[in-house]
Amino acid sequence: MFSSAVAWCSIAVASAGTPDLGWELLVTTAPETTARTCVDAPGLPDYLQGRYIVSGPARFETDNYKFQAIFDGFGKMNRFEVGGGSLCYTSAWLNTTFARESEKRGQAAGMIFEETIPPRSCPLTDPMCNMNVPGDNDWVNLIQIGDDTCLLTDATQMLKIDLETFETHDFKVWADDFTPSVGGGLGPVPSWLKSGHIGTAGSAHPTRRAGTNTYVDVLSEMGPVPGQSSFIDVYTFDASKAGPQNRTLVSRVKAKKTPYLHSFGVTPNYIILPINHAMAIPDMLHPTLMGGIVEHWEGVSVLDKDNKLHKFDTDPFYHFHVVNSFENATGVTMDVGAFDKTPVQKSGFMDIAMFLNKTVRDTNPIRNVVRRLHFHFSGPQTGEVTTEDFDQVADSASDLFRIHPGYEGMPYCIYYAMQWWADGENMASMAVVKHNVCTGVKTLWQQPNTYPGEPEMVPGPSGAEEDGVVMFLALDGEKRKSKLVILDAETFTELEVMELPSHIPFTAHGRFVPPAEGQSMVV
Ligand SMILES: [Fe+2]
Repeated sequence: MFSSAVAWCSIAVASAGTPDLGWELLVTTAPETTARTCVDAPGLPDYLQGRYIVSGPARFETDNYKFQAIFDGFGKMNRFEVGGGSLCYTSAWLNTTFARESEKRGQAAGMIFEETIPPRSCPLTDPMCNMNVPGDNDWVNLIQIGDDTCLLTDATQMLKIDLETFETHDFKVWADDFTPSVGGGLGPVPSWLKSGHIGTAGSAHPTRRAGTNTYVDVLSEMGPVPGQSSFIDVYTFDASKAGPQNRTLVSRVKAKKTPYLHSFGVTPNYIILPINHAMAIPDMLHPTLMGGIVEHWEGVSVLDKDNKLHKFDTDPFYHFHVVNSFENATGVTMDVGAFDKTPVQKSGFMDIAMFLNKTVRDTNPIRNVVRRLHFHFSGPQTGEVTTEDFDQVADSASDLFRIHPGYEGMPYCIYYAMQWWADGENMASMAVVKHNVCTGVKTLWQQPNTYPGEPEMVPGPSGAEEDGVVMFLALDGEKRKSKLVILDAETFTELEVMELPSHIPFTAHGRFVPPAEGQSMVV
C-alpha cells in the first residue's frame, strides 16, 4: 500500500572530505540580535502576506556556566515579514522569567533538561530554589488567541508577546485562573484543578478542532497520592475570543502515573491521547527533565464526541509529534512519529556533547518511523488497533511534521518533515521531505552540509492540498550562515532564498501569522 518513489529537488551529493561542515553551529551560541534587514523578493506569490516566526535555543553558556542539553539554551526569536515583494528579517532574545531569574542568580533557574556545568546550588535557607520558577523559556511554539499572541512550551502557562516589538508581557490571563497554595510559584492553574493536585505540565501543541475556532489542550495533574490520583485533563478554549475566558474541562482521564504528553490527535469527533510518558517526582535539589520524564505505557485513550473514554492497546511506542488524525468509516486514524524507546533521554538528539560527537550521533539508536494507527470503532475489528509503518529510508528518522492547515483533523495525503540520516548513515545528512502517503511519492529538498528546520506549509487561495508554499530555515554549514528558503509546495522548486547575516542554531516550530483581517503587509 505504501510503496515508495522519490523525486529529488535541489539535491546534490554531500561533499566528500568535508563531512558535516558547520554542524556544530546548530548548538553554538548565536551572535547578538539582528536589526530589521530587508531584501527584494519578487518570486513570492501575492497571497503570501504575514509574519513567519520561528524560535529556538540560541545561547548555550554564560561567563559562569554552560548548558549540557540543547533545549536548555536561552531562547531567541526570528521574525520574517513577508509581503509586498519583500522579505524583512529581525531577531531578538526572548525576555522570560527563566532568562531574568538566571541572570539575577548567576546560574540557570528552574527546571531544566540537564544539570549545568558546574552544577547549580541553592542557598541553605531555600534548598529547593529551582522548584518554584515558572518554566517559560517558550521558544517551542506559538498560538494566537483573540488579540493575544502567546508563546508555548510544555508548561501550564502561555507567555504573551508583541510580535511588533518583541516585548513579552505577563502570562496569558484566563478567567478561571487560580493560584494554589502548593506549587503556586509556578503560576496560576485552572480553578477546576483538583484541590491538592499540582499542574505539572501542559502541551506546546494545542490543537484545533477542524472547522471551528475551538482548540483542545491538555494539562497533567500530579495527585498527592502517587499511583492513585494522577490525571491528564483535557480542556478546550475559543481561539477567536479576546480577553480572559474560562477553559472548559472536557474530561479528566485517570492515569497510573502522572502523564506527560507533548502532542495528541484531534478530529471533529475524537481526541486521541497516547499515554506513553510519565513524570517522575523530580530531584528537588537538582530538578531536571531528562530522567524526570520516563517511559510509561498505558495504551491509547480515545475520547469520543460524548466524552466517553475508549481504551485501546497496541505495541508500546513513544512520541513527540502527531502528524495528523482523521476519521473514516470504521473509526479514527492517527499518524504519529513513533519511537521504540523514549526520545526524552540523553542522546545525540538532545545532549550537546553527544550531538557534537560524530560517532555517537551517527550511531544514535533513537530513531523513529511514521506509524499509522487505526482505532476501530465499528466493523469486525471493533476495539482493536491496526498499525502500519510508512516506507522510509532505512535507518533514517524524521520529525517536526506539518501539513496543509486546512487538512488538520481531516483525511489528507501530504505531510512535510525534516529528516536526519537521509543517506541512511550520517545524522547530518538532512533533508526536508514531502511525503504523499496516498501515493507513496516522496520529494526531497537537500543541499550538501545544509541543515534545515521545520517546514511550515502556508496555504494558497484554492484550498487544494498542494497549493501553497513551504518555508523553513536552513543552516548553510559551508557559508556558516542560515537562510530562509521558500519553496512552491507542489513542485518543491525554490521561489525565494534570503541569506541571513549569521547562523541560527537549532529551531523548533515555526508559525506563519497572517495580518489581521482587512490589513495587508507592507514591508
Ligand atoms: Fe513540538
